[in-house]
Amino acid sequence: MRILILGGGGREHAIAMSLRTSPSVSALYCIPGNPGISEIATTAAISLDEGDRLVAYAAAEKIDLVVVGPEQPLVEGIADRFRAAGIKVFGPGKQAARLEGSKIFSKEFMVRHGIATAPYEIFSSKEAALEGLKAFSFPVVIKVDGLAAGKGVLIPKNFKEAEEVLVQIFDERKFGPAGERILVEAFVRGFEASILCLVDENHLVPLESARDYKKALDGDLGLNTGGMGTISPNELLTPSITGVIASEVLAKTLQGLKEDGLTFTGVLFIGLMMDENHRPHVLEYNVRFGDPETQSVLPRLKNDLGRVMMATVDNRLEELVLEWREEMALTVILASGGYPEAYDRHLPIEMDDLDEGVMVFHSGTALKGDRLVTAGGRVLGVTALGGDKEVLRGLVYRNLEKIRFEGKHFRRDIGL
Ligand code: GLY
Repeated sequence: MRILILGGGGREHAIAMSLRTSPSVSALYCIPGNPGISEIATTAAISLDEGDRLVAYAAAEKIDLVVVGPEQPLVEGIADRFRAAGIKVFGPGKQAARLEGSKIFSKEFMVRHGIATAPYEIFSSKEAALEGLKAFSFPVVIKVDGLAAGKGVLIPKNFKEAEEVLVQIFDERKFGPAGERILVEAFVRGFEASILCLVDENHLVPLESARDYKKALDGDLGLNTGGMGTISPNELLTPSITGVIASEVLAKTLQGLKEDGLTFTGVLFIGLMMDENHRPHVLEYNVRFGDPETQSVLPRLKNDLGRVMMATVDNRLEELVLEWREEMALTVILASGGYPEAYDRHLPIEMDDLDEGVMVFHSGTALKGDRLVTAGGRVLGVTALGGDKEVLRGLVYRNLEKIRFEGKHFRRDIGL
C-alpha cells in the first residue's frame, strides 16, 4: 500500500513512524513533512492549500490512501477533493469537519443528540454578549466559532476580563472571521480527558486513552499551549468512567452522526470535562488525531496502522481487533523559550545519541544548510515506553538532557 500523509508536525511524525513499521505499507510520502519525517518518508514542498497540486501529486505517485493530519485542510474540504479524484482518504469531508470548524455547529449537534455539554448562548456582537454575560457566573468560557489555531477558547475570571476579551474579538477582530460569532458557556469544574476514536459509517472504536498536559508550566500553571506532554493510558479514566463515556458520549455521538447524515471517516477526538460527580460533559470535537496525544498512543498500538486506517476508510471497523502494548508511553515536549508567546527561531539544535527505545518526534524544526534548527513553538517530543512510571520518567527526562538548544523549555511533571 502506498500512503501519503499531509502535515508536518509531531503528530504526523508519529503517524509516519507507525506506518513505516507497518508491513502493509510499501511506500510512504509526506507533504510537507519536516526534517525528522524526511528520514523515513519521501517529502515534497507543496502547500496544504494547493488542492490541485496535492491531488496531482497523489495521482502521479499512485497513492492508495491519503492520511490528513491537521484540521485546517479538513475543514477546507481537502478530503472531498481527493475523493472526487477517486483517491481514498483517512479524514472527514468538509461537512463532517464542521464538528471542529464551527464550535456553534458542534454545540448544536451535542444538544440535538442529548450529549451532555455546558449551557451556552450564541452572540454576534460585543453589546449583545456584554448583556448576555449577566446571566453567567465567573469564570466563564468564551469560544470563537471558527478555527483559531488552538487559541480561540478564553476563560475570563471576571466581568472586566470578559469585556477585554470581547473587545479583542469584536472591535480589534483578533480572530478575523473566526470571531464573527462566539459561544459563551458555563465553566464546568473537574478534570479534562480526551478520547480518540476511529470512526466509519457504522462504528466508533475508542483508542487507548491519553492525558494531555496543556499548560505551559509545572503544576498546570501558566498559559494554555497546544500540549506540553502526554501519558498513555490516562490513569484518571477508570473502567467505570470509561463505561459512562461509552454510553453517554460515544454511542450518542455515533447515533447523531447517522441521524444527521454526516459521513465521518477517520479519527474523532472528543474533549471532555469530567465533573465532580464523574459525569462527562463534551467540551469539543476535533476531527483528527491529537498532538501530542498521538505521540504516546500510536507507539502502543501493536496492529499494522496501515491496515487499521484502510479498514476505517473501507467501513470495515467491525473486523478490527485492536491490540495494545501493556507498557505506558510518556511524551515530553521540548518547547522554545517564551512559547506559547513570542519566541526566537532558527536556533541550532544539538542532539547526542539517545538511549535505545527512546523516540524523538519533530514538531517545529527545520534545516538551515545541513544544520537542524528550531522552527516552531513546540520543537521536539521525546517518547518512550515502560512498565514502571518512575523508571519511564527517568528514562525520558535523562534523554531530554541530551538535546540542547538555546532557551529550551519543558515541563518536569509530565506523567505525575
Ligand atoms: N492536544 C490537543 C490537540 O491536539 O488539539
